[in-house]
Amino acid sequence: MDAEAILPTRCLHIGMVGFGMIVDETYRPVFEAAARSQPYSPATGPIRVELTAVATRTGSRAAAYLGNLPAGMSPFRNCLGLTAVADLLAAGVDAVCVATPDDRHFGPARAALAAGKHVLIEKPSVLSLAELDELQALAERNGVLAKVVYHKLLDPDHKRIRTLVADGVLRHVNSGYCSLLEPKSISAGQFAEWVTGRNPSTYVAVHYLKLIDFSFGPDWGLDRVAADGQRGIVGPADGPTWDSVQLRVVYRHPDGREAAFDIHTSWVTPDNFPGYVEQEVQFRFDNAVWSAHQRKRGVELTVEGRSPGEFKHTPNHHYSAAFLEPWDERSRRGYGIEVIERFFREVAHVEFGGPPESRLERLRAMRSMAYNDLSADRNCVAIVQATEAILRKAAAGVTGCVVRVNQSAGGLVLYEPGSAAAEVLYPGRV
Ligand SMILES: NC(=O)c1ccc[n+]([C@@H]2O[C@H](COP(=O)([O-])OP(=O)(O)OC[C@H]3O[C@@H](n4cnc5c(N)ncnc54)[C@H](O)[C@@H]3O)[C@@H](O)[C@H]2O)c1
Repeated sequence: MDAEAILPTRCLHIGMVGFGMIVDETYRPVFEAAARSQPYSPATGPIRVELTAVATRTGSRAAAYLGNLPAGMSPFRNCLGLTAVADLLAAGVDAVCVATPDDRHFGPARAALAAGKHVLIEKPSVLSLAELDELQALAERNGVLAKVVYHKLLDPDHKRIRTLVADGVLRHVNSGYCSLLEPKSISAGQFAEWVTGRNPSTYVAVHYLKLIDFSFGPDWGLDRVAADGQRGIVGPADGPTWDSVQLRVVYRHPDGREAAFDIHTSWVTPDNFPGYVEQEVQFRFDNAVWSAHQRKRGVELTVEGRSPGEFKHTPNHHYSAAFLEPWDERSRRGYGIEVIERFFREVAHVEFGGPPESRLERLRAMRSMAYNDLSADRNCVAIVQATEAILRKAAAGVTGCVVRVNQSAGGLVLYEPGSAAAEVLYPGRV
């Protein structure tokens, strides 16, 4: 028997749209690990997962990676320029991951779903419910998965809070706060090319919006959204670009009681901040308080001349870190990586997890997962759309607007202070 005959023949060909920081931290480790050992489940057997094509604007980072490919990885097609996404879709991919800036997810995701490819989108999936409706309809029509990455749901501490809620240990959440503060280098350097007109809330508050919505729902209803923000560092003080945002989201439990959450975000904290990104939460229940800090989990480290840049003073090794395993293998592991691997396993289950006649059943089973399916992203997208509308109003001089959810006038309705007039942002039900 020749070597070809004993190699696993089932292969998922993956297309990657965008090849920036998040690809370095989470996607590349998945492709590199898959080149060393195939993901396996009893239903699918071993599966090869191959990076087949990359689409970006300039192709430079993908070219650098191609020039230094880790062992076991095959060269991929480097698509660039205006036809990059179309070229990627023509390269024989089965699934497409979209990791472009947050206001450039919709176009590539729509093109991929229209071409019958499974799709995984970085958070926030899209910026409006109309876009979400269109993607969902395409996925339904073409029999493919459409999913979004919320890796914080796989953080062991967040799995634990959901478990304690599900088991009735933590009862009836009433209020809470979350903060996620990023360094200036993000807004001034890494995202400088697309930061104009954007805000840090859309990009990072969604982590906590999903954590709240997923862990404490789904029986409650989103009631209203309000937001304030500050300007003057990333862009002019009277311009459309935001330094920091304070978002307030109110839900109503089935018993009529409300729960309110404040989510503070910024991308102008000092670059020498000890943990690079500052993240903490507090949730208050009828019978309990949960407080957690993402980076203060016990490890403190200082390396002369290399901290806090390369080695953070208070690192989070649960997200994505390089390890020398006890069995002397090098690896890169963490929940940021696990969440991407799971998507590939879900696609493999649909395509290879049983006979073709039960594919629809498998597709439905994978779609029923609220942690990542677009159909379960409605509240988060509604909050993002509402926040962006409120910030646009504020930039135009009208501060203090509120967006109310599922009113008789529409699903998302914006009210200006002191005015009875309502602006319908989304007519359907959220
Ligand atoms: N899960 C997380 O915690 C996390 C962390 C960081 C970023 N992200 C998300 O990942 C996405 C990308 O963030 P990043 O930090 O990697 O950004 P980045 O700026 O480092 O990279 C963006 C990439 O998109 C490409 N790109 C831009 N416009 C494009 C277009 N029109 N067509 C094709 N490619 C295009 C750029 O060439 C670049 O390769 C964002 O949606 C962000 O919210 C998620």
